[in-house]
Amino acid sequence: MSDLIVTTNNLSKSFGDVQAVRGVTFGIRRGEIFSLLGPNGAGKTTTISMLSCLIEPTSGDALVDGHSIRGAPQAVKEVIGVVPQEVALYQSLSAHENLLFWGQMYGMNGNILRQRIAEVLQTVGLADRAKDRIETYSGGMKRRINIAVGLLHRPRLVFMDEPTVGIDPQSRRNILDTVKTLNEQGMTVLYTTHYMEEAQELSDRIGIIDHGELIALGTQEELSQLVGQEDVVELRITEMQVTPALLQALEQASGVRQVNAGDGAVSLIVEDGHAALPELIATSNRHEARVTGVSVREPNLEAVFLHLTGRALRD
Ligand SMILES: Nc1ncnc2c1ncn2[C@@H]1O[C@H](COP(=O)(O)OP(=O)(O)O)[C@@H](O)[C@H]1O
Ligand SMILES: [Mg+2]
Repeated sequence: MSDLIVTTNNLSKSFGDVQAVRGVTFGIRRGEIFSLLGPNGAGKTTTISMLSCLIEPTSGDALVDGHSIRGAPQAVKEVIGVVPQEVALYQSLSAHENLLFWGQMYGMNGNILRQRIAEVLQTVGLADRAKDRIETYSGGMKRRINIAVGLLHRPRLVFMDEPTVGIDPQSRRNILDTVKTLNEQGMTVLYTTHYMEEAQELSDRIGIIDHGELIALGTQEELSQLVGQEDVVELRITEMQVTPALLQALEQASGVRQVNAGDGAVSLIVEDGHAALPELIATSNRHEARVTGVSVREPNLEAVFLHLTGRALRD
């Protein structure tokens, strides 16, 4: 048995002129949490849709637990659980009824199905709400039931496509903890996100995807090394005071590699953060920008993305 549960080989998908996924090749190890991290439109959902046999690749192939997504989609579907980005639930039915419906679609029934339903409701922490109609649920709770549906047939491998977008912090926390628990119980997880904090918290390994291409892959440590010994300096400056002239001046300060503005702060990748600080602050002062806070840290995934693409992940 291969230690890779998923291998993709030059996987590509075009929609007309749009090359959504361009020759993506990677492997997911059994038992790991593997994240695909990338901004909106990077090709995450398209990749997941191909691996779930919902859409056909334009070229390339992938093996899921040894089965080709092109040649043996039925066998692939038995191995995987899919949690799509969009919630697919009947609003006027209870959570329990929705799970019954989906379970029967998967060919389960009777006591086994009831037991599985109880199990997955427990897993997502909504057992006490099982009898309430979905329309009474918050967005985050609906997402959690969506996850429960994907787990019903006890898949060995689960695909979760941005499960925390646009939900309350409590549900987000619950979902991240659920992913970890499932993984501790032996499930392999492919998780997509554009939140680097999530990728950082969850992942054994991370693939960074941008414009349909896998531009880096590795553990966080390996990815951080791509940025080298550089530091990330963050200067807190009110957005109104961040002028193009200031950004240009900061770019020209000594040791500065990259400058990016957003969210009430200017982040810079610099050779040596502490050495650069006095000049950066003096430059800001000269441009009448008041620095209200400063941090210097080792590169995180945001810095890796910035380093590889010249853009911030959150843009
Ligand atoms: N069905 C489709 N028809 C045309 N273009 C699509 C379709 N699905 C996705 N795309 C395009 O493919 C690119 C990748 O999309 P997607 O995989 O949804 O990215 P992500 O999930 O990372 O946000 C985007 O440019 C998107 O507009
Ligand atoms: Mg998507």
